[in-house]
Amino acid sequence: MAINVAPEGLNLTLTSEHEMIRQAARKFAQERVAPIAPHHDETGEFPIETVREMGQMGFMGIEIPEEYGGAGMDTIAYAIALEEISKACAAHGVVMSVNNSLYCNALLKFGTEEQKQAYLVPVASGEVVGAYSLTEPMSGSDAATMKSRAVLNEAGTHYTINGVKSWVSNAPVARYILLFTMTAPDQGHKGITAFMIDTEKPGFSRGKKEPKLGIRASATSEIHFQDYEAPLEDMLGEPGMGFKIAMTVLDAGRIGIAAQALGIAEAAYEASLIYAREREAFGGPIGRFQMIQQKIADMKTRIEATRLLLYNAALAKMRSKESGERYTTEASMAKLFASETAMWVTTQAIQIHGGMGYSKELPLERYFRDAKITEIYEGTSEIQRVVIARNELGIR
Ligand code: CAA
Repeated sequence: MAINVAPEGLNLTLTSEHEMIRQAARKFAQERVAPIAPHHDETGEFPIETVREMGQMGFMGIEIPEEYGGAGMDTIAYAIALEEISKACAAHGVVMSVNNSLYCNALLKFGTEEQKQAYLVPVASGEVVGAYSLTEPMSGSDAATMKSRAVLNEAGTHYTINGVKSWVSNAPVARYILLFTMTAPDQGHKGITAFMIDTEKPGFSRGKKEPKLGIRASATSEIHFQDYEAPLEDMLGEPGMGFKIAMTVLDAGRIGIAAQALGIAEAAYEASLIYAREREAFGGPIGRFQMIQQKIADMKTRIEATRLLLYNAALAKMRSKESGERYTTEASMAKLFASETAMWVTTQAIQIHGGMGYSKELPLERYFRDAKITEIYEGTSEIQRVVIARNELGIR
């Protein structure tokens, strides 16, 4: 992406590669995903076929180098593709986001060569799906308070894992899961360690599926560990490094959720534009009324501001590859603003559509339900504000 600061303002020009990925993602999303989205929303059925196709198109490991099964593109390309997919169906969006940002990213950054070959290649290439598991029934925003445990055996050859994790996106379909669990409970966040879990091994099982308000076609469930044995070579990073790994990849994840929220907001906005032009009341299109115009103007402005914050965070992540500097604040600002924009825009879109917005005959109410989760997962809006403010103030 080229950025020119001209007297008339900041001009973001996408490269031809970025334009190509937008066109490819848009075509696939509109032709293959949008038509099936209502059915999968209603039934909660996981869209296995189109997720497989996303893998074939390289969308399940966009930023992963080709040698590890990915598409070898950059974070802007990732954000663009995710925005287009989420515009058609936010549930497909989160499947893609978790696979890319939370799973593949972690292995690329922290995995050994053996771990990359075993756990990254099949997931980045879209052959199988990956998941990320931090949350527990009694540990959400306060992620360091987890109750699950991993205990090293006397011979020092493997850890035995026990406990329950909840709200694990992709878990019902994932082959591999990046798990965060406690190996030294007396050490708080410094006692958390990350492991690669193979869901086909004994000791692992899936618990109840979460009945969700939105993104219903994405699969979310509890996972249970009963004496699951993880060999030392399945530890990601060092003992006690888990919290850092979890937080580092959540920075990338929050960029993904910002792109997802942008896609949802755009879908609701574009539907509103059409409706405001076509729907007539009091002798003309409702778009003539200033109260509708105010909504349209504010929707458009917030969407464009979101896009700038999203690309700003994506560029910060790309720079961090060289500099090693964190892009935590940029990612949190993008996620916070994008998710609140998605919620606000989808609310206004329903209002513009009136009764039809409330009806299940149009996708507006789905956009509204899907938008809500973006204010909650990968750190609530309240947590994003804590992160931004702490980083600005320099205090914890
Ligand atoms: N990158 C790297 N390291 C980080 C970091 C980051 N972004 N944020 C914190 N750390 C490090 C700190 O530097 C600190 O390290 P040291 O002890 O070495 O100095 C350590 O982590 C602890 O930091 P804090 O004291 O700030 O930790 P805290 O306990 O106060 O918590 C928090 C901070 C920001 C509230 C954090 O717990 C958090 O983000 N909570 C939200 C959790 C979350 O987002 N959950 C989402 C679940 S996943 C999900 O939703 C996936 C899905 O389904 C789609």
